[in-house]
Amino acid sequence: MNVHMTHTADATTVEEGLAIQEAQAKLDNDMATSVAMQNTLLTPRFYTTNFDELDAVDVSPVRKDWDQLIAAMAADPNKGHFRKNEDWDAVDWEGMDPDLKKEFIDFLISSCTAEFSGCVLYKEMKRRGSNKDITALFQYMARDEARHAGFINDALREAGIAVNLGFLTQKKKYTYFRPKFIYYATYLSEKIGYARYITIFRHLEANPDRRFHPIFKWFREWCNDEFRHGEAFALLMKTDPKLTSGINTYWIKFFLTAVYATMFVRDHQRPVFHRTLGVDPDWYAYEVFKKTSKLSEQIFPLTLDIDHPRWQPTLEALSAANVDLAEATERKQPLRKFAAQCRAGWAFMSLLMIPSKNNEVPVSTRLEPIY
Ligand SMILES: [Fe+2]
Ligand SMILES: [Fe+2]
Repeated sequence: MNVHMTHTADATTVEEGLAIQEAQAKLDNDMATSVAMQNTLLTPRFYTTNFDELDAVDVSPVRKDWDQLIAAMAADPNKGHFRKNEDWDAVDWEGMDPDLKKEFIDFLISSCTAEFSGCVLYKEMKRRGSNKDITALFQYMARDEARHAGFINDALREAGIAVNLGFLTQKKKYTYFRPKFIYYATYLSEKIGYARYITIFRHLEANPDRRFHPIFKWFREWCNDEFRHGEAFALLMKTDPKLTSGINTYWIKFFLTAVYATMFVRDHQRPVFHRTLGVDPDWYAYEVFKKTSKLSEQIFPLTLDIDHPRWQPTLEALSAANVDLAEATERKQPLRKFAAQCRAGWAFMSLLMIPSKNNEVPVSTRLEPIY
């Protein structure tokens, strides 16, 4: 394979996609990589799991839906899509408002890390597995995430920076999650990823003057990939009713709350980015939570009550505690840091205490992307 002739958008396997990025790594930049290396509660992490347990999953209870989904992934509708073409308008990085530039680059680096985190996990499952159903799925998902990460890196390179993905694979800390926690966390991150990308895409479709960077034009096909990935995890959970009942409903509530709260706090750390897009972060969060909750009714027996009077103010308190925490950490003020941690922990507990809404899970799991 001649890596100078090919692009990650055309890579049909994850190995090929990564080899192309490896060849580009000589351009990659320490600043971006060190940001991607950070491990805090809010930054994207890398995961590892019990691959043997995952490999042993029998998908026969959902065979019909499973085969349809795998066929859709094998058809590869987005092959060649994630590359710069004539729709890619020139970006004036030099003339960009410095605060916007800082927040936008932070957004791109953290999105790239999140995409790549999925890629690494899925690729490892595909490599270790022997179950044909499981390895086929994870091969396709890893392929998609390698393209997504590669495309964001293309955008970053124009600003003179990029994330060294090979270095991250080797050096970033991996967090171990049991397979069921991987299902909850990854299912939700795929579905919330879909909801985030489609909400931004629809907003910019209606307000094209707000599109300050061309990458947003790619979000529709992009989120359809994420949608399919989410569908796959929904089917995996459907194979075993225990995963979504009994004590596990508490875990589902925990993951829903953690994923929603993380999104809220992180987005509120990028005010200039959202102002430039013409997006109110509170409106955006509510919109995304609503869509994600609606989608997750396909498999989760409960949804969070995002209309509860305590929901929004508690998220705001959590957000404020996090701002305080970041400042105290930077200024090396241990007491203030401890106080901020307590407030953040209390706010999170208080979110968990809000009663959730029960949901009757439908017999048929599969959904289509309708937003
Ligand atoms: Fe992705
Ligand atoms: Fe994905």
